[in-house]
Amino acid sequence: MSTSEYRSVAAEGDLPISEAELAALATQLLAASIRPGNDSPPQTVPPAPRGSVPDTTSAASYAAAAAGAEPFAPPAVFLEAPGVTLPPPSSPGPEPIPPGAVPVAPRGSAPDLTTAPSAGHAGVGVVDVFTPPHLEVFAVPGGIVPTGPGVLAGPTPSAPVAPRGSVPGWLGGVPGIPDLSFLSAPELTSAPTGDEANYYFTSGVPALSAPVPQIRDDHEIFDVNAIRADFPILRETVHGKPLIWFDNAATTQKPQAVIDRLAYFYAHENSNIHRAAHELAARATDAYEEARDTVRRFIGAPKDEQIIFVRGTTEAINLVAQSWGAKHLGPGDEIVITILEHHANIVPWQMISQKTGAIIKVAPVDDAGNLLLGEFEDLLGPRTKLVAATQVSNALGTVTPVDKIVELGHRYGARVLIDGAQSTPHIPIDVSATGADFFVFSGHKIIGPTGIGVLYGTEEALAETPPWQGGGNMIADVTIERSLYQGLPNKFEAGTGNIADAVGLGEALRYVEKVGIDRIAAYEHALLEYATPRLADIDGVRLVGTADEKASVLSFVLAGHQPLEVGKALNAEGIAVRAGHHCAQPILRRMGVETTVRPSFAFYNTFDEIDVFLNAVRRIAEGGTNTG
Ligand code: ALA
Repeated sequence: MSTSEYRSVAAEGDLPISEAELAALATQLLAASIRPGNDSPPQTVPPAPRGSVPDTTSAASYAAAAAGAEPFAPPAVFLEAPGVTLPPPSSPGPEPIPPGAVPVAPRGSAPDLTTAPSAGHAGVGVVDVFTPPHLEVFAVPGGIVPTGPGVLAGPTPSAPVAPRGSVPGWLGGVPGIPDLSFLSAPELTSAPTGDEANYYFTSGVPALSAPVPQIRDDHEIFDVNAIRADFPILRETVHGKPLIWFDNAATTQKPQAVIDRLAYFYAHENSNIHRAAHELAARATDAYEEARDTVRRFIGAPKDEQIIFVRGTTEAINLVAQSWGAKHLGPGDEIVITILEHHANIVPWQMISQKTGAIIKVAPVDDAGNLLLGEFEDLLGPRTKLVAATQVSNALGTVTPVDKIVELGHRYGARVLIDGAQSTPHIPIDVSATGADFFVFSGHKIIGPTGIGVLYGTEEALAETPPWQGGGNMIADVTIERSLYQGLPNKFEAGTGNIADAVGLGEALRYVEKVGIDRIAAYEHALLEYATPRLADIDGVRLVGTADEKASVLSFVLAGHQPLEVGKALNAEGIAVRAGHHCAQPILRRMGVETTVRPSFAFYNTFDEIDVFLNAVRRIAEGGTNTG
């Protein structure tokens, strides 16, 4: 068996571990007895106390806010105020506007300012909110206002810029700021074509000696303050500081439109679906199926029936592993994954390999975290039945070449599953173009609710996948002797699903469509480009994961400080990051660490927030008060 080949064993059985390793683990477990959560590392150094910033409660934060002390006040934007009665479905008239709300033009009469040059930051941004089928929309004109390529529309960020060549460990050069000229395109939802479609991390890669490109202003791609105004939680304070939410790879915050959509569902549509011939069942079914259609459109799937609602990425992968895998895998068959995978794309394969005798092979990465495609291909062969690979690593941010992975997998006759949990929120997805047999993602990572996710499959792949769970909704006919199953998608949706959150996911995706996933990708890329060299420049910082193509994630360790300690010190500053193993222990160990600090960005984050974060890390590195 090669070093990249694994035959899984049951954890409680035949452990492939030496006594010395067991002893080392026992020592780590003892040291970890104070760890606060399941993501924390075994610790040899206890975490420092919080330091001089008092651990104020949220009540204190509210009090400060109520006293007018809250320094962060994003523009108030009226969405749907609590207590406002929505008109009945038959009444499409304009919404009543609550006292104090900013009146906005209905959608139809709002001028399309998306093609007009920006009037600068004063332009109010978006806000396009959840639109029940029978309601008018509140829209603020001018939501997404490009200010013209290459033009800095506001103050340049103040932190010093590290010369590109000096970024340690940054292999392959720093990707260039993408070509955003397509942003003047008139349609918000129009996708760039040809070369433009390749801008994300792939175009304009400068030589290391090239001058540092100018950092873009927050508002150049869209009005980030208008976006932020749509996310009420961003007005929270934590320990008296404005919340900076840099834990987006763990979960994202929700816009008011999604929150309102959930409330609307329960207030006006709540019913089980499909089974009852009454008005609310029809409304709930329509809302649920509309969400399915939105997902289909968002990921470029051919048919609604190919969209299966599940709890999330983890459940989707388990479904494929337990159902497809149990039927199609046998002793000696091979499953090829990559070392970049989240535990959710490792453990289900271990479990099914234990049952079937299949072997797991693991494609390696280089020291920067780039997937080694040649080595990946070397693992493929006539026994390869399934390839399961992530599109974006949740721990390092590496973007993998999924088109190539799918092509190679298919060349060897394998089915290919792509884990899109971390890619769907950040880069355009087109499952038809990529050609994956299965594609999975979670709603909560893309500003949707928790507990809802998607399994997409080609008709062929889903047809050869037996039903996973049995029960109501998935059957066509049942006798005591046998059951006949429904076709897609019901075949995989046994029992009462998460109807409301599916509807909420649909609303989330519509919000993302309105902002534009291309713009989101470009903006987040600019944030990452801004943060990366500056973080690397701080004494003691080592970036963990410096792949040529990255999305959203900026993992690092800081010499002399445990990641958990850094996470706590940042939390005292109101900055939420994940510190731990990120449910991706194999890749972190490959990179020589057990845990990292992991800020991860979303399109509502700002360059100013990154400056606050960088200053906090500098103070921690210098042993300032925040380290405790
Ligand atoms: N998969 C999530 C993360 O990366 C939980 O944090």
